[in-house]
Amino acid sequence: MDRVADKVVLVTGAGSGIGRATAKLLAAEGATVIVTDVNRPGGLETVQQIGGRARFEEQDTSKEADWKRIIDDILAREGRLDGLVNNAGIAGPFPSTFEGESLEQWRRILSINVEGVFLGCKYGVPALRSSGGGSIVNLSSLAAFLGTPDLSAYGASKGAVRQFTKTVAIDCARKGYKVRCNSVHPGIIITPMGESILPSEKARERTRQRVPVGEFGTPEDIAYGVLYLISDESRFMTGAELVIDGGMNAI
Ligand SMILES: NC(=O)c1ccc[n+]([C@@H]2O[C@H](COP(=O)([O-])OP(=O)(O)OC[C@H]3O[C@@H](n4cnc5c(N)ncnc54)[C@H](O)[C@@H]3O)[C@@H](O)[C@H]2O)c1
Repeated sequence: MDRVADKVVLVTGAGSGIGRATAKLLAAEGATVIVTDVNRPGGLETVQQIGGRARFEEQDTSKEADWKRIIDDILAREGRLDGLVNNAGIAGPFPSTFEGESLEQWRRILSINVEGVFLGCKYGVPALRSSGGGSIVNLSSLAAFLGTPDLSAYGASKGAVRQFTKTVAIDCARKGYKVRCNSVHPGIIITPMGESILPSEKARERTRQRVPVGEFGTPEDIAYGVLYLISDESRFMTGAELVIDGGMNAI
């Protein structure tokens, strides 16, 4: 119950789905968790479910001023930051092909999914360094490896997160920062976002048949991977891709 004992960890988009499950697991394993989200009721509900060792702050991860405020606040209140989970993300409307996608929608998805992760790393790394080092986990997707004709901007955004993670990892390692950075690649996970791309029972069944293990994942399946990457158990791991997808990327 103490795999991340005494660590202070920020989890973005923790008012729902994978972020909420991750925040709960990190807290159960001894971390103090800063839960952030644009969705205040969702974030407060996560903190209530944790029942201690957590607090909520409203944050839009695509806004630079929000990152400055949140990181300064954590250093002032908790005195340190040991882990950052860049989880907040959106998929956008489904389906959205590249021919049908508006530039406005494309930019919206990239501003949250890519610029949000960039800003998290930009402001998170100095805070982790000043705490003696730490770990960043960026939520990418199985979509980073495959063509995604029905989610064109989303696929591009997750490919960018996969690549940028390695850039941060290598830059930090070479500079001796003691900050690790890895990406996690979920397959299809049953969350509000996962359900939005499975609009009907028929679509759900057809997609389920494409998963080698025969079922969709749960938010907890991903949370256990994030827990490992935030913990010191993964101390020799940086710039890596942790795929948690029921085998989909292996076929
Ligand atoms: N569910 C899946 O099948 C799946 C698969 C691969 C990757 N992912 C990734 O996992 C992460 C979590 O997804 P989920 O399935 O839990 O989705 P979700 O929709 O259940 O949760 C996402 C959370 O992010 C928050 N959010 C959205 N925009 C934000 C912003 N600008 N600032 C702060 N918070 C914001 C939402 O309010 C929500 O609480 C995402 O990055 C997603 O792309 C999910």
